[in-house]
Amino acid sequence: MLAQAQAPIVIKFSHVVAPDTPKGKGAQRFKELAEARTGGKVKVELYPNSQLYKDKEELEALQLGSVQMLAPSLAKFGPLGVKDFEVFDLPYIFKDQGAFRAVTEGPVGADLFKKLEPKGIKGLAYWDNGFHIMSANKPLHAAADFKGLKMRIQSSKVLDAQMRALGAIPQVMAFSELYQALQSGVVDGTEGVPSNFYTQRIFEVQKHITLSNHGHLAYAVIVNKKFWDGLPADIRSQLEGAMQQATTFANAIASTENAAALDKIKASGKSLIYAPTEAETNEWKKTLMPVHKEMESRVGKATIDAVYKAANFSAPK
Ligand code: LMR
Repeated sequence: MLAQAQAPIVIKFSHVVAPDTPKGKGAQRFKELAEARTGGKVKVELYPNSQLYKDKEELEALQLGSVQMLAPSLAKFGPLGVKDFEVFDLPYIFKDQGAFRAVTEGPVGADLFKKLEPKGIKGLAYWDNGFHIMSANKPLHAAADFKGLKMRIQSSKVLDAQMRALGAIPQVMAFSELYQALQSGVVDGTEGVPSNFYTQRIFEVQKHITLSNHGHLAYAVIVNKKFWDGLPADIRSQLEGAMQQATTFANAIASTENAAALDKIKASGKSLIYAPTEAETNEWKKTLMPVHKEMESRVGKATIDAVYKAANFSAPK
Protein backbone atom coordinates (compact mmCIF):
# COMPACT_ATOMS: atom_id res chain seq x y z
CA MET A 1 0.00 0.00 0.00
CA LEU A 2 1.19 3.46 -0.81
CA ALA A 3 1.92 5.67 2.16
CA GLN A 4 -0.53 8.50 2.20
CA ALA A 5 1.05 11.92 1.62
CA GLN A 6 0.72 14.05 4.70
CA ALA A 7 -1.27 17.23 4.32
CA PRO A 8 0.93 20.27 4.87
CA ILE A 9 0.64 22.40 7.99
CA VAL A 10 -1.04 25.62 6.85
CA ILE A 11 -0.07 29.03 8.22
CA LYS A 12 -2.53 31.73 7.29
CA PHE A 13 -0.65 35.05 7.40
CA SER A 14 -3.01 38.01 7.26
CA HIS A 15 -2.05 41.67 7.06
CA VAL A 16 -3.60 45.02 6.15
CA VAL A 17 -1.16 46.53 3.65
CA ALA A 18 -0.43 45.98 -0.05
CA PRO A 19 1.91 43.19 -1.22
CA ASP A 20 4.19 45.84 -2.73
CA THR A 21 5.34 47.30 0.61
CA PRO A 22 8.14 46.39 3.03
CA LYS A 23 5.70 44.32 5.13
CA GLY A 24 4.09 42.69 2.08
CA LYS A 25 7.49 41.78 0.67
CA GLY A 26 8.73 40.53 4.04
CA ALA A 27 5.67 38.26 4.28
CA GLN A 28 6.29 36.95 0.76
CA ARG A 29 9.94 36.26 1.61
CA PHE A 30 8.92 34.39 4.79
CA LYS A 31 6.50 32.26 2.76
CA GLU A 32 9.22 31.28 0.26
CA LEU A 33 11.80 30.54 2.94
CA ALA A 34 9.38 28.66 5.20
CA GLU A 35 8.12 26.43 2.42
CA ALA A 36 11.66 25.73 1.15
CA ARG A 37 13.18 25.07 4.58
CA THR A 38 10.43 22.66 5.60
CA GLY A 39 10.52 20.89 2.24
CA GLY A 40 6.86 21.69 1.67
CA LYS A 41 5.69 20.41 5.06
CA VAL A 42 4.46 23.92 5.76
CA LYS A 43 2.35 25.98 3.41
CA VAL A 44 2.08 29.72 4.08
CA GLU A 45 -1.03 31.40 2.71
CA LEU A 46 -0.76 35.19 2.45
CA TYR A 47 -3.81 37.42 2.81
CA PRO A 48 -2.73 41.05 2.23
CA ASN A 49 -4.85 44.21 1.98
CA SER A 50 -7.24 43.46 4.89
CA GLN A 51 -8.94 40.89 2.67
CA LEU A 52 -9.67 38.65 5.65
CA TYR A 53 -9.86 41.05 8.58
CA LYS A 54 -9.60 44.72 9.44
CA ASP A 55 -7.22 45.94 12.14
CA LYS A 56 -9.14 45.02 15.24
CA GLU A 57 -10.74 41.80 14.03
CA GLU A 58 -7.32 40.61 12.93
CA LEU A 59 -6.03 40.30 16.49
CA GLU A 60 -9.19 38.58 17.65
CA ALA A 61 -8.92 36.12 14.76
CA LEU A 62 -5.35 35.30 15.78
CA GLN A 63 -6.40 34.67 19.37
CA LEU A 64 -9.19 32.38 18.18
CA GLY A 65 -6.80 30.53 15.87
CA SER A 66 -8.68 31.47 12.66
CA VAL A 67 -5.34 32.77 11.36
CA GLN A 68 -1.93 31.74 12.63
CA MET A 69 0.29 34.74 11.82
CA LEU A 70 -0.07 38.54 11.62
CA ALA A 71 2.19 41.59 11.48
CA PRO A 72 0.18 44.44 13.03
CA SER A 73 1.78 47.76 13.80
CA LEU A 74 2.90 48.20 17.40
CA ALA A 75 0.26 50.92 17.81
CA LYS A 76 -2.51 48.32 17.68
CA PHE A 77 -1.96 46.30 20.87
CA GLY A 78 -3.67 48.73 23.25
CA PRO A 79 -7.21 47.39 22.74
CA LEU A 80 -5.85 43.97 23.72
CA GLY A 81 -4.90 45.43 27.09
CA VAL A 82 -1.16 45.47 26.39
CA LYS A 83 -0.45 49.17 26.61
CA ASP A 84 3.34 49.06 26.85
CA PHE A 85 3.73 48.83 23.07
CA GLU A 86 2.40 52.38 22.77
CA VAL A 87 5.84 53.48 23.97
CA PHE A 88 6.86 53.12 20.32
CA ASP A 89 4.37 55.87 19.37
CA LEU A 90 5.86 58.53 21.65
CA PRO A 91 6.79 61.50 19.45
CA TYR A 92 10.47 61.82 18.56
CA ILE A 93 11.48 58.90 20.81
CA PHE A 94 13.78 57.43 18.14
CA LYS A 95 16.35 59.76 16.60
CA ASP A 96 17.07 57.28 13.81
CA GLN A 97 16.56 53.68 12.73
CA GLY A 98 19.57 52.57 14.78
CA ALA A 99 17.90 53.80 17.96
CA PHE A 100 14.74 51.84 17.12
CA ARG A 101 16.70 48.68 16.34
CA ALA A 102 18.66 48.95 19.58
CA VAL A 103 15.33 48.60 21.38
CA THR A 104 13.72 45.85 19.32
CA GLU A 105 16.83 43.74 18.86
CA GLY A 106 17.80 43.82 22.54
CA PRO A 107 16.31 42.69 25.86
CA VAL A 108 13.66 45.45 25.89
CA GLY A 109 12.08 44.09 22.69
CA ALA A 110 12.16 40.55 24.09
CA ASP A 111 10.61 41.64 27.42
CA LEU A 112 7.80 43.42 25.59
CA PHE A 113 7.03 40.27 23.61
CA LYS A 114 6.64 38.36 26.90
CA LYS A 115 3.71 40.63 27.75
CA LEU A 116 1.77 39.19 24.80
CA GLU A 117 1.99 35.59 26.01
CA PRO A 118 -0.85 35.73 28.56
CA LYS A 119 -3.03 36.86 25.63
CA GLY A 120 -2.23 33.65 23.74
CA ILE A 121 0.15 35.46 21.39
CA LYS A 122 3.84 34.89 20.73
CA GLY A 123 6.04 37.59 19.21
CA LEU A 124 8.58 36.34 16.68
CA ALA A 125 10.15 39.47 15.19
CA TYR A 126 10.00 43.23 14.83
CA TRP A 127 9.84 44.68 11.33
CA ASP A 128 10.80 48.31 10.78
CA ASN A 129 8.90 50.59 8.42
CA GLY A 130 10.53 53.96 8.96
CA PHE A 131 9.31 57.36 10.02
CA HIS A 132 5.90 58.94 9.79
CA ILE A 133 4.88 61.84 7.58
CA MET A 134 1.75 63.99 8.01
CA SER A 135 -0.79 65.01 5.40
CA ALA A 136 -3.88 67.15 4.88
CA ASN A 137 -5.43 69.31 2.18
CA LYS A 138 -3.72 72.37 3.62
CA PRO A 139 -0.06 73.00 4.36
CA LEU A 140 1.10 71.66 7.74
CA HIS A 141 4.11 73.77 8.68
CA ALA A 142 3.46 75.12 12.17
CA ALA A 143 1.81 73.16 14.97
CA ALA A 144 -1.03 75.72 14.81
CA ASP A 145 -1.89 74.48 11.29
CA PHE A 146 -3.44 71.35 12.86
CA LYS A 147 -6.04 73.26 14.83
CA GLY A 148 -9.47 71.66 14.39
CA LEU A 149 -8.34 69.13 11.75
CA LYS A 150 -9.81 65.64 12.01
CA MET A 151 -6.80 63.35 11.83
CA ARG A 152 -6.99 59.58 11.37
CA ILE A 153 -4.92 57.58 13.82
CA GLN A 154 -4.32 53.95 14.63
CA SER A 155 -5.81 52.67 17.89
CA SER A 156 -3.15 54.09 20.20
CA LYS A 157 -3.83 56.45 23.09
CA VAL A 158 -0.37 57.95 22.60
CA LEU A 159 -1.26 58.88 19.03
CA ASP A 160 -4.55 60.26 20.34
CA ALA A 161 -2.65 62.46 22.83
CA GLN A 162 -0.19 63.48 20.13
CA MET A 163 -2.95 64.76 17.84
CA ARG A 164 -4.67 66.54 20.73
CA ALA A 165 -1.39 68.24 21.66
CA LEU A 166 -1.35 69.64 18.12
CA GLY A 167 -4.91 70.89 18.53
CA ALA A 168 -6.29 68.30 16.08
CA ILE A 169 -9.22 65.93 16.61
CA PRO A 170 -8.00 62.32 16.47
CA GLN A 171 -10.22 59.66 14.90
CA VAL A 172 -9.38 55.99 15.27
CA MET A 173 -10.10 54.21 12.02
CA ALA A 174 -9.17 50.92 10.34
CA PHE A 175 -6.43 51.21 7.75
CA SER A 176 -8.67 49.76 5.02
CA GLU A 177 -11.14 52.64 5.51
CA LEU A 178 -8.61 55.44 5.30
CA TYR A 179 -8.63 56.25 1.59
CA GLN A 180 -12.37 56.56 1.48
CA ALA A 181 -12.54 58.58 4.66
CA LEU A 182 -10.04 61.08 3.25
CA GLN A 183 -11.76 61.20 -0.11
CA SER A 184 -15.19 61.82 1.37
CA GLY A 185 -13.93 64.25 4.02
CA VAL A 186 -14.85 62.08 7.01
CA VAL A 187 -11.31 62.93 8.13
CA ASP A 188 -9.10 65.79 6.97
CA GLY A 189 -5.68 64.23 7.28
CA THR A 190 -3.52 61.40 8.50
CA GLU A 191 -0.05 60.33 9.49
CA GLY A 192 1.63 57.37 7.85
CA VAL A 193 4.64 56.18 5.87
CA PRO A 194 5.36 56.80 2.17
CA SER A 195 5.01 53.11 1.19
CA ASN A 196 1.45 53.12 2.52
CA PHE A 197 0.67 56.60 1.13
CA TYR A 198 1.72 55.37 -2.30
CA THR A 199 0.11 51.92 -2.38
CA GLN A 200 -3.18 53.10 -0.84
CA ARG A 201 -3.26 56.11 -3.23
CA ILE A 202 -3.51 58.47 -0.26
CA PHE A 203 -1.43 61.04 -2.16
CA GLU A 204 -4.30 61.36 -4.64
CA VAL A 205 -6.63 62.68 -1.95
CA GLN A 206 -4.18 64.75 0.12
CA LYS A 207 -2.72 67.92 -1.35
CA HIS A 208 -0.02 68.51 1.26
CA ILE A 209 2.52 66.23 2.88
CA THR A 210 5.02 67.27 5.55
CA LEU A 211 8.15 65.17 6.10
CA SER A 212 7.84 65.51 9.85
CA ASN A 213 9.49 62.25 10.97
CA HIS A 214 7.72 62.81 14.29
CA GLY A 215 6.84 59.16 14.80
CA HIS A 216 7.99 55.75 13.77
CA LEU A 217 6.09 52.81 12.27
CA ALA A 218 7.01 49.24 13.07
CA TYR A 219 5.36 45.86 13.21
CA ALA A 220 5.38 42.82 15.42
CA VAL A 221 5.25 39.53 13.57
CA ILE A 222 3.14 37.43 15.90
CA VAL A 223 1.67 33.94 15.99
CA ASN A 224 -1.04 32.11 17.85
CA LYS A 225 1.00 30.73 20.77
CA LYS A 226 -0.85 27.43 21.08
CA PHE A 227 -0.39 26.72 17.39
CA TRP A 228 3.30 27.64 17.50
CA ASP A 229 4.06 25.65 20.66
CA GLY A 230 2.21 22.66 19.19
CA LEU A 231 4.40 22.46 16.07
CA PRO A 232 6.92 19.60 15.81
CA ALA A 233 10.22 20.96 17.22
CA ASP A 234 12.17 20.46 13.97
CA ILE A 235 9.57 22.36 11.94
CA ARG A 236 9.35 25.14 14.48
CA SER A 237 13.09 25.68 14.36
CA GLN A 238 13.08 25.70 10.54
CA LEU A 239 10.35 28.34 10.67
CA GLU A 240 12.32 30.36 13.21
CA GLY A 241 15.26 30.35 10.81
CA ALA A 242 12.99 31.43 7.95
CA MET A 243 11.61 34.24 10.09
CA GLN A 244 15.09 35.42 11.02
CA GLN A 245 16.09 35.63 7.38
CA ALA A 246 12.82 37.28 6.33
CA THR A 247 13.29 39.83 9.12
CA THR A 248 16.77 40.76 7.95
CA PHE A 249 15.34 41.21 4.47
CA ALA A 250 12.28 43.26 5.54
CA ASN A 251 14.41 45.53 7.71
CA ALA A 252 16.98 45.99 4.96
CA ILE A 253 14.45 47.18 2.37
CA ALA A 254 12.30 49.46 4.56
CA SER A 255 14.13 52.72 4.03
CA THR A 256 14.83 52.32 0.31
CA GLU A 257 11.25 51.20 -0.36
CA ASN A 258 9.89 54.24 1.47
CA ALA A 259 12.28 56.59 -0.32
CA ALA A 260 11.22 55.11 -3.67
CA ALA A 261 7.54 55.51 -2.75
CA LEU A 262 8.13 59.15 -1.83
CA ASP A 263 9.82 59.74 -5.19
CA LYS A 264 6.80 58.28 -6.98
CA ILE A 265 4.46 60.50 -4.98
CA LYS A 266 6.61 63.52 -5.88
CA ALA A 267 6.58 62.52 -9.54
CA SER A 268 2.78 62.27 -9.53
CA GLY A 269 2.57 65.99 -8.79
CA LYS A 270 -0.62 65.38 -6.79
CA SER A 271 0.77 66.20 -3.34
CA LEU A 272 3.11 69.00 -2.47
CA ILE A 273 5.88 67.61 -0.27
CA TYR A 274 7.28 69.92 2.37
CA ALA A 275 10.42 69.48 4.48
CA PRO A 276 10.07 71.51 7.70
CA THR A 277 12.80 73.95 8.68
CA GLU A 278 14.82 73.37 11.82
CA ALA A 279 12.87 76.09 13.63
CA GLU A 280 9.57 74.45 12.65
CA THR A 281 10.79 71.03 13.79
CA ASN A 282 11.85 72.54 17.11
CA GLU A 283 8.41 74.03 17.54
CA TRP A 284 6.74 70.65 16.82
CA LYS A 285 9.05 69.05 19.36
CA LYS A 286 8.19 71.64 21.97
CA THR A 287 4.49 71.04 21.34
CA LEU A 288 4.71 67.26 21.34
CA MET A 289 7.25 66.39 24.02
CA PRO A 290 4.77 66.86 26.92
CA VAL A 291 2.98 63.76 25.56
CA HIS A 292 5.79 61.63 27.00
CA LYS A 293 5.02 62.71 30.57
CA GLU A 294 1.27 62.72 30.00
CA MET A 295 1.33 59.08 28.86
CA GLU A 296 3.62 57.82 31.61
CA SER A 297 0.83 56.36 33.72
CA ARG A 298 -0.69 54.56 30.74
CA VAL A 299 2.39 53.16 29.05
CA GLY A 300 4.36 52.59 32.27
CA LYS A 301 7.35 54.60 33.48
CA ALA A 302 9.58 51.53 33.65
CA THR A 303 8.87 50.71 30.00
CA ILE A 304 9.48 54.29 28.88
CA ASP A 305 12.73 54.46 30.86
CA ALA A 306 13.92 51.14 29.43
CA VAL A 307 13.27 52.37 25.89
CA TYR A 308 14.94 55.74 26.60
CA LYS A 309 18.03 53.91 27.81
CA ALA A 310 18.23 51.39 24.96
CA ALA A 311 17.55 54.08 22.34
CA ASN A 312 19.97 56.50 23.97
CA PHE A 313 17.17 59.06 24.02
CA SER A 314 17.81 62.62 25.09
CA ALA A 315 15.02 65.15 25.37
CA PRO A 316 15.26 67.95 22.81
CA LYS A 317 16.41 71.24 24.34
C1 LMR B 1 -1.93 51.89 9.80
O1 LMR B 1 -2.98 51.37 10.19
O2 LMR B 1 -1.80 53.08 9.54
C2 LMR B 1 -0.70 51.03 9.62
O3 LMR B 1 -0.50 50.32 10.77
C3 LMR B 1 -0.86 50.12 8.47
C4 LMR B 1 0.31 49.21 8.40
O4 LMR B 1 0.18 48.09 8.89
O5 LMR B 1 1.34 49.62 7.86
